[in-house]
Amino acid sequence: MTTAATDKVKVAVFVTGGGTNLQAIIDAEKSGIISTARIALVVSSRGDAYALARAEKAGIPTVVCERKTFPSQADFEKAIRAALDEYGIELIVLAGFMSILSADFTARYPERIINVHPSLIPLHCGKGYYGLRVHESVLAAGDKVTGATVHFVNEIPDGGRIIAQKEVAVEEGDTPETLQRRVMEQAEWILLPQAVESVAREIRGL
Ligand code: GAR
Repeated sequence: MTTAATDKVKVAVFVTGGGTNLQAIIDAEKSGIISTARIALVVSSRGDAYALARAEKAGIPTVVCERKTFPSQADFEKAIRAALDEYGIELIVLAGFMSILSADFTARYPERIINVHPSLIPLHCGKGYYGLRVHESVLAAGDKVTGATVHFVNEIPDGGRIIAQKEVAVEEGDTPETLQRRVMEQAEWILLPQAVESVAREIRGL
């Protein structure tokens, strides 16, 4: 089947937890900030992720692939790829996806996987830096400014080409939780939908 230039880019959003970034993409599709892409599938690495409820409420198909239920990483990724193929997915968005994807997986989708990371890469990123740990690291370093980064995903953790970054101030008395919330509100929820739209436009040659 051919894909007409006017067809929306079919996106799979990969989640593990609360799914506030997924929600930001759903909302951006509704408001028209995203007009060239549509979420066609949500893939969760946990069966109890609240993100699944958000997807269901928005009428988006979901699939759960938990690493521990597969005998190997290869089998886990094979199941994910089968779902992506079934839904004709053209762009993968990692939005708080906490399972590891192998180099074999990422190499199959060059510049077709994007990730949001809650710091200004190359600071506070790479193996072991995820979720609240990132913000704990920023506070421990005494940084006055942090932010978020959206980047393409390759075989190096948080190492792919940067698409967009936005700075956020660290404030006196911040805890990892208050900082995480500010970085989400002021950077992630804005940057990620914008990046989805811009990469989708590139995919369609617009
Ligand atoms: C977000 O802050 C995201 O940037 C981070 O996990 C959170 C998920 O929240 N991702 C990473 O740390 C990846 N290295 P959400 O489920 O509410 O979108």
